Amino acid sequence: MRLILVGPPGAGKGTQAAELISRLQIQHLSTGDMLRAAVSQGTELGKQADGHMRSGGLVPDDLVIPIVIERIQQPDCQNGFILDGFPRTRPQAEALDTALQAAGVQLDAVLLIEVPDELIVERITGRRMDPVTKVIYHLKFNPPPAEVADRLEHRKDDTEQACRARLGKYHSETAPIIPFYESRGLLRRIDGVGTPQAITARAFEALGLT
Ligand code: AP5
Repeated sequence: MRLILVGPPGAGKGTQAAELISRLQIQHLSTGDMLRAAVSQGTELGKQADGHMRSGGLVPDDLVIPIVIERIQQPDCQNGFILDGFPRTRPQAEALDTALQAAGVQLDAVLLIEVPDELIVERITGRRMDPVTKVIYHLKFNPPPAEVADRLEHRKDDTEQACRARLGKYHSETAPIIPFYESRGLLRRIDGVGTPQAITARAFEALGLT
């Protein structure tokens, strides 16, 4: 299956991607994770991306598009992938379209996780990530076990200020790609409000995986 996850920051894309890859046994390609790895490794891409990410802006298309197009052509993506956080702009959606057409493959679905803006800031500022297991926690909604509490990381862009900037970018740059996929009959909308388990059940149903 070739799937795109779309939704505002903190919608639960990473949380649901973990459930979907476990069920589907396909690659999880998160552009946010790729870019954060580049930043922590101090690569040229990371140096150029860092400031954009900290402030809640988007990393320019000409930096992001090539890393994704190159990645989906790797052998471990031949059975499918979940793109999490890409495409995020109309040029990214068009570049992906062109690359998939050239490879003779098609997307199966675009899953849109809808969460109202007023719930996003609390989700983002309370997020913590375990750098060892990569499990995503939330101090209130999915509290971490005491034994991992000391090693949890708080993302640099998970401040209220950067979160509001990311939300603004989502509405101005990313939301306009939704009609692009809707017109192709690929869009599956789910309500992202509820427990993570309830959202997983909605995602599976929307994708015909029940
Ligand atoms: P990225 O890492 O993609 O961040 P994002 O899209 O803002 O999404 P998040 O990772 O913040 O949230 P999520 O939807 O995965 O939610 P999660 O499951 O963690 O991108 C970061 C930055 O990189 C961008 O701002 C940009 O600068 C750059 N970038 C990345 N891709 C790019 C691209 N294609 N082009 C240009 N720039 C790009 O959940 C959030 C929290 O809520 C967690 O604590 C979780 O435990 C909790 N939670 C999850 N589900 C629920 C629920 N149902 N109820 C209550 N809490 C829940």
